Amino acid sequence: QFTPRVFSGIKPSGGLTLGNYLGAIKRWVDMQGPAFETIYCVVDLHAITVWQDPATLADATREVAAGMLASGIDPAKSILFNQAQVPAHAELAWLFNCVARLGWMNRMTQFKDKAGKNAEKASLGLYAYPSLMAADILVYHATHVPVGEDQKQHVELTRDIAAKFNHDYGEAFFPLTEPVIEGPAMRVMNLRDGSKKMSKSGDSDMERINMTDDADTIAKKFKKARTDPEPLPGEVAGLADRPEAKNLVDIYAALSDTTAEAVLRDHAGAGWGTFKPALAELAVEKLAPISDEMKRLMAAPDEIDAILAKGAERAEAIANPILERTFDLMGF
Ligand code: ADP
Ligand code: NA
Repeated sequence: QFTPRVFSGIKPSGGLTLGNYLGAIKRWVDMQGPAFETIYCVVDLHAITVWQDPATLADATREVAAGMLASGIDPAKSILFNQAQVPAHAELAWLFNCVARLGWMNRMTQFKDKAGKNAEKASLGLYAYPSLMAADILVYHATHVPVGEDQKQHVELTRDIAAKFNHDYGEAFFPLTEPVIEGPAMRVMNLRDGSKKMSKSGDSDMERINMTDDADTIAKKFKKARTDPEPLPGEVAGLADRPEAKNLVDIYAALSDTTAEAVLRDHAGAGWGTFKPALAELAVEKLAPISDEMKRLMAAPDEIDAILAKGAERAEAIANPILERTFDLMGF
């Protein structure tokens, strides 16, 4: 009974990484088309759960929007906007704060990771983050959320909130949204530490590939990426205990729209001295046009702002009636 609708977002909390591109943006581009209505958001209200410099927040938002546009998110096919322009997100998040249970929030591993040892000093917003994310998704009755592996638990919490709301207020009003976690690079790892995911916030520059890195920088970073001394195996099973090797093979597969199996068929027996430069060349080939277009857009902030403003208007046309009905069901 729900329109097939995709929602997903990225925080403007630092420069976009190859993880954001392969785990999110590239797949969002592919989902545009007749099967789904697609709604993509720069989630600036999420970014401020940790400190963001007010002098750079608006530009960071524009840069993430530029990354999406340059990658092929098309405002004629998708709604693209930033969260702070659509107040329905924050309003529904408050209602969901009163539906979600403390015990559910306490189980969220991302809060534990991000808050670290000093959780007492974390913002209340960082703790309530999954409730805002549930509102982002459900204020559009989104049925599908394409995300990386790191967001799976939050989408499950979104389903729990929807189910409890539907139960408590007596109507199957919110959909039970499906996470879409498919492809070879759903968890791109840090280049220097194969046990950590690549992230735009927290990692040092040599640990990640930025979407705006130039060819020399990309080559240097892959060259210095941590690996083991073994050559590439012929089959995926041979990567089982080799997280760094697996990561580079998965990145290659995702960038070339193929599978790890196919990459290993072509590169079995290759040493890192051959595979790393090939990977760098492939990454440059894919990222350079995107990075050039990002730079052009960043020099035209009015163009980006106009797209986001138009997107926000279209987003509100869907979100506001759903928010209104939610208030009704709760008795307001
Ligand atoms: P970050 O963790 O880099 O700050 P966000 O939290 O803004 O990124 O996440 C934006 C999207 O990018 C989400 O769908 C998330 O799952 C995806 N993503 C982020 N990092 C990675 C990664 N290393 N591998 C795959 N997907 C990722
Ligand atoms: Na994340």
